[in-house]
Amino acid sequence: MSEADAGVDIGRRFPPDFLFGASTSAYQIEGSPQADGKGESIWDRFCRKKGAIAKGESGEKACDHYKLWKDDVGLMRELGLESYRFSVSWPRVQAQGAGEVNFQGLAFYDRLVDALLEAGVVPFLTLYHWDLPQTLQDRGGWGNRDIAERFADYAAIVAKALGDRVRYFTTLNEPWMFAIVGNLLGQHAPGKRNPWVAARVVHHAVLAHDRAALAIRAWAPKAEVGISLSLDPVEPASETPRDIEAARRADTFMNRWLLDPILRGAYSDDVRAMLGPFFPRLRQADEDLMRGSRLDFLGINTYTREKARYAKGIPFFHFWTDAGDIPDTEFERDGALFTSMGSEVYPPALSIILKRLRDEYGNPPVFVTENGAAFSDRPTEGRVKDPKRVAFIDGYLAEAARALEEGCDLRGYFYWSLFDNFEWAYGYDKQLGLVYVDYETEERIVKDSGRHYAAIIAAHRVAGKGRG
Ligand code: FCB
Repeated sequence: MSEADAGVDIGRRFPPDFLFGASTSAYQIEGSPQADGKGESIWDRFCRKKGAIAKGESGEKACDHYKLWKDDVGLMRELGLESYRFSVSWPRVQAQGAGEVNFQGLAFYDRLVDALLEAGVVPFLTLYHWDLPQTLQDRGGWGNRDIAERFADYAAIVAKALGDRVRYFTTLNEPWMFAIVGNLLGQHAPGKRNPWVAARVVHHAVLAHDRAALAIRAWAPKAEVGISLSLDPVEPASETPRDIEAARRADTFMNRWLLDPILRGAYSDDVRAMLGPFFPRLRQADEDLMRGSRLDFLGINTYTREKARYAKGIPFFHFWTDAGDIPDTEFERDGALFTSMGSEVYPPALSIILKRLRDEYGNPPVFVTENGAAFSDRPTEGRVKDPKRVAFIDGYLAEAARALEEGCDLRGYFYWSLFDNFEWAYGYDKQLGLVYVDYETEERIVKDSGRHYAAIIAAHRVAGKGRG
């Protein structure tokens, strides 16, 4: 068997009902920020802030998917995607983030869902991928407790409209990222740098998730409800006791802060101790809500591993992770490959995480809702050769298959992203897609990795039919 065949054959190692898909998010691909009554989002606003985004770019046009959605669904059919993870833009559905429903905006997702089903692609819907209505931000955004109620109302509107056809709902995408990068580091919208606000954002996101889950179940009883958390294993940079302790603390901060309330219904004492005065005061009703909440599946977004070292000078945390020091360019070091976003390609991270969820968190059903790599891709004569991405996919899927064989309850895998798209503060400088997009002409070119992934999925389908 040739090497290429071996890569494709991996599809056969996954059970017939396993879902192979690709992910996108509304702001990163849609464009048309003012179409059909859409309200302003915090990303529309943030992109206008001087110096916020590389080269002053924005999602103003992006992949123009709001206009080209039909062709894009055609492309998904061509690739044979079994599922498509997309997000709904809240300000399209409620321009002011509260009250009145903008039915024209909602109709876009209604048409999209129908077209996906017709193409045989399972819709996998995310309610919030970072594009908060600006009017809600003006009232404190995720830092205001009221957001939980607003989000549950919005979830009810979408579940009522689409829940008859959409089985998979995720509430929030990576709350840790929008809390920390958006409200502590100021590098993402809304561009705040306030530790008290950032800590409250995490808690309000947990409450919003729990309340939205109840709302979705009320309107779409057959839906399965989950959340997507960013989750990368943290390893000590050396075997010294101080670095080992630093890795434990970094893991508490980056992973357990959300994993514990979401999967165990309570924050750990470790996180309370680490955050000290920043940890928000909880109400009894919050604790009851968290304890009573149930999850149908966990979505994990994983890209790399982190290495942590002791750092005396960092207040409260006393750790630092290597990620902060790695340049944002492709390079190799000690045999390890780094992407153009400075993350190490390290496929074993996936099975490490899945086994941890199996052993420490009761083996919940899991979907990998994001996993991907940025490499600079350019077409030559109509073809995009991206062997590093092909190897990335093979490496991660081999780990996924291994984890499944070792009893982890993995239900699906979504590559991030279907398209090259607007990569937040990096603008269009980073390409993670299976499909290349020429932003001038909006032409799409399926990369070699896209064809490779399509062949893996085809092998999965054939094997599934054989077994079924
Ligand atoms: C994740 C985001 C996604 C994309 C990838 C590269 O943190 O959820 O939108 O930007 O990183």
